[in-house]
Amino acid sequence: MLDLTPDRASLDPIEIASRDEIAALQLSRMKWSLAHAYENVPHYRASFDAKGVHPDDLETLADLAKFPFTTKHDLRDNYPFGMFAVPREKIARLHGSSGTTGKPTVVGYTVRDIDIWSDLVARSIRASGGRTGDIVHVAYGYGLFTGGLGAHYGAERLGCTVVPVSGGMTERQVSLIDDFKPRVIMVTPSYMLSILDEFRRKGLDPRDCSLAVGIFGAEPWTNSMRSEIEQAFDMHAVDIYGLSEIMGPGVANECVETKDGLHIWEDHFYPEIIDPVTGAVLPDGEMGELVFTTLSKEALPMVRYRTRDLTRLLPGTARSMRRMEKITGRSDDMIILRGVNVFPTQIEEQILKCSGLAPHFQIELSRTGRMDDMTVHVECTLAAADADARAASARELAHHIKSTVGVSARIDVAEPGQVARSEGKAKRVVDNRPRA
Ligand code: DLL
Repeated sequence: MLDLTPDRASLDPIEIASRDEIAALQLSRMKWSLAHAYENVPHYRASFDAKGVHPDDLETLADLAKFPFTTKHDLRDNYPFGMFAVPREKIARLHGSSGTTGKPTVVGYTVRDIDIWSDLVARSIRASGGRTGDIVHVAYGYGLFTGGLGAHYGAERLGCTVVPVSGGMTERQVSLIDDFKPRVIMVTPSYMLSILDEFRRKGLDPRDCSLAVGIFGAEPWTNSMRSEIEQAFDMHAVDIYGLSEIMGPGVANECVETKDGLHIWEDHFYPEIIDPVTGAVLPDGEMGELVFTTLSKEALPMVRYRTRDLTRLLPGTARSMRRMEKITGRSDDMIILRGVNVFPTQIEEQILKCSGLAPHFQIELSRTGRMDDMTVHVECTLAAADADARAASARELAHHIKSTVGVSARIDVAEPGQVARSEGKAKRVVDNRPRA
């Protein structure tokens, strides 16, 4: 694959500044952000007062630990606009995250927030190997979801030609890639696999297509999936992370030259890792729940927002800013099966070890009597579709799951095309257990 290391002169100076410079900027911005939240959002005034802390108590970055956490419940309780720190007329855009039950979570942006968001997505695309002048195919969904428009504004900011396809209509996605010859694609990794299927169905060799860089995120995916996609398309596959409550895509991004975890754009977001049970801040390197404080957001300042995403913080490499390891999963998606914690990413890794299996899968949970059962629905490849080959693949996968993850799983190896496809975020777990 091509060496796409960006020219250092093209980076934002802060990306390669000293840690002292970054910390000084963070402290001054954090002071502003806490005061802005306290003065303009009744929820923050009440929660700071209840904990007996005031923005003036922040003298060092570590003092942030004295401040209360913010959760999705706080956003729901203040639905729709109660967490905004500016008058509604100053909100230039609303987005929302769907939420499986009840009302969506609403987030808002001022013109300046959108401007910074665009800069950070442009920075993310550049870190991924994208350049001014590239054609960028955006297959993240457009709408209340932040993926499509977030990617779009960032690609425009970098000076790219944007193809705003959104998700779905997979046949058309492939025709447009074939006709317009984009160099970069931005899409969920699971939907990229559907696009891959369509290439093959059409008899096109994906390795011959124009794509050189894929910027994949919005859902957990493994390094094994990275190799699978990179091999299939002969392209770089790079991870982009973000969440609506903090901004959208572009909170953190991998660098194409290292692919060793995602650099957090620490000039705008301050990360902490906490013990999800006690709430205690953990040292860098330890695994826990990722928490963010926004440092520059005007419309929706977030103080110690609990993401529910599990990862750890690592020192900078290609950039001075700290990295977060690829997300293991969300605490909400963690399956506890007979006392063992299981994440869908662990199952994905084992599936990708089996040569007769395609990387489409869904995990079904059910209960017989008092025992929980896990069934992994997965597909065979075309080359391994006969009954004997499928049975062998099922045995192989069950063995890998038992010996590495530590649980017994039933394996259902379906024919190609039988496992539900995603057009955006994949639904990895279907829980059919009776509600307690
Ligand atoms: O998914 C924003 C986004 C769009 C990120 C496009 C990247 C690309 P939400 O819909 O609010 O926002 O969902 C946020 O998705 O808390 C994670 O659990 C998960 N997530 C996002 N990016 C990644 C990633 C967008 N790279 C939630 N790896 C987050 C793992 C991710 N999980």
